[in-house]
Amino acid sequence: MSAAKPILSVRDLTARVETRRETIQAVRGISFDIGANEAVGFVGESGCGKSVTAKALMRLAPEGASISLGGRIDFQGQDILSLSEKTMRDLRGRRIAMVFQDPMTSLNPVMTIGAQIDDILCRHLGLSRRAARARSVELLGLVGIPDPARRADDYPHQFSGGMRQRVLIAIAISCDPDLLIADEPTTALDVTVQAQILRLLLRLKDERGMALMLITHDFGVVAGMVDRVNVMYRGEIVEAGAIDDVFASPRHDYTRALLDAVPRLDRAGLGR
Ligand SMILES: Nc1ncnc2c1ncn2[C@@H]1O[C@H](COP(=O)(O)OP(=O)(O)O)[C@@H](O)[C@H]1O
Ligand SMILES: [Mg+2]
Repeated sequence: MSAAKPILSVRDLTARVETRRETIQAVRGISFDIGANEAVGFVGESGCGKSVTAKALMRLAPEGASISLGGRIDFQGQDILSLSEKTMRDLRGRRIAMVFQDPMTSLNPVMTIGAQIDDILCRHLGLSRRAARARSVELLGLVGIPDPARRADDYPHQFSGGMRQRVLIAIAISCDPDLLIADEPTTALDVTVQAQILRLLLRLKDERGMALMLITHDFGVVAGMVDRVNVMYRGEIVEAGAIDDVFASPRHDYTRALLDAVPRLDRAGLGR
């Protein structure tokens, strides 16, 4: 547990995902805290409930499903599960923002990158078109897009996978959120680009004083990145602790299995 008062405090969270065909208890009563400016990892195999948990924090349902939530989500002293839908719309993207795995599907293919960021800044922050463009270019520079003033007029397909992920990160931080959720942000990228994107996230977290929730199926990704880690298995948190402690002496068999799946090279990268 972090010493400072957490900005996010989750207690006994449950999430039932309902589709036309079935009902799944995707999250089965999990509790965790995230401190201001803290990086917390969520690790577990595919289907264990990581993305449903992340979306639950913003009260969003997975694609093509509806969701029923139980328990308590306290974000900066506000009870997320009892806020109005209008308050939630203001909060999403503004105070809690999210970067997803697949940068292509999250961007509009027929709009320039600059126009997409401008729109968000105009809508959420009420900036003029002109002020928004200046800010968009600044944000693109901040996430490491070379020649941002020119690249703002390009379309998503003109960017590489890594550069598109940088664009999504620019969008996510555009309204200065207090919590950034990165859901498998590097899974689609090659190893070198992965490391660059992770370093970028960590740098932005520190520079902007955000909290970071980093979700991955791969322990190698959170090594050296997060302060604490929660290991998820079948909708539950089965192990939680300081990342170095969990790496050095995992308590749960499942955690051990996940750690064994990490190539030695990555483990040597602890503290990267
Ligand atoms: N869009 C969806 N439609 C139906 N079921 C879903 C959907 N998304 C998630 N689920 C169910 O919720 C469980 C948890 O999913 P998820 O949180 O996406 O896992 P992951 O840990 O891979 O992110 C899945 O095993 C699945 O049964
Ligand atoms: Mg997922």
